[in-house]
Amino acid sequence: MARITVNELKARKGGMPIVSLTAYTTPQAKFLDPHCDFLLVGDSLAMVVYGLETTRGVTLDIMCAHGRAVTRGAKRALVVVDLPHGSYESSPELAVASAHRVIDETQAQAVKLEGGEEMAEQIAAITAAGVPVLGHIGLLPQKAEHRGAFKIQGRDDAGARQVMADAKVIAEAGVFAMVIEGTVEPVARDITEQIDVPTIGIGASPACDGQILVTQDMVGLFADFTPKFVKQYADLGSALEKAAKEYARDVRSRQFPGLEHCFGVEKK
Ligand code: KIV
Repeated sequence: MARITVNELKARKGGMPIVSLTAYTTPQAKFLDPHCDFLLVGDSLAMVVYGLETTRGVTLDIMCAHGRAVTRGAKRALVVVDLPHGSYESSPELAVASAHRVIDETQAQAVKLEGGEEMAEQIAAITAAGVPVLGHIGLLPQKAEHRGAFKIQGRDDAGARQVMADAKVIAEAGVFAMVIEGTVEPVARDITEQIDVPTIGIGASPACDGQILVTQDMVGLFADFTPKFVKQYADLGSALEKAAKEYARDVRSRQFPGLEHCFGVEKK
């Protein structure tokens, strides 16, 4: 099965919407792979897997471990791995070294980093070094020191102009597509109309060239906080709770369905 390429995704600008979800483990990647154009190993795993307050607490080591787990499970979808907070902002050299490490260790096809104008040099350096970059503008979770600091972007004219300027600069710097997170709808729509790389919305606009969600949010596996824009397609959290309850009941009542298959159990 041929893997979707960066160029194929770029060519989807204005065409068939791009489908993306986050993935963090091999089994999860296997389930999602047939239905997604790209899988993002997002640093949202800090919150939805590791229970941290923001995305800031994850390291490059952690992202590489999860990135490798996901590429083991994804055969068709392109895999993008987030560069975590602290691994790219201070210089283009650090950004290139981190991007190379992620690609070498995970065998993913691209990296993502957060930021607009202020990250243009990093984006240009990573793409010049041969690693495709997915941009991320609008609400930037890595900038938030606590969950209450996640704020919709582009509400006033100056804010809207800034998000548009960020989009233009990172497109020029070479991103193959950009995530637009948490902006007012007309801003994401205008960017999608004016920029010639695909836009991937999350809480941004249905007009974007594609959409991404945090998988744990859309299947009910992260109960701490679910953004209003997320449609819940399944309630796996409740299913897990129910299974654990039934298992506990069986064990406590010494019912062991399944254990009759154990090696050495006498057949009746
Ligand atoms: O880390 C993540 O999951 C992300 C998505 C929200 C786009 O960056």
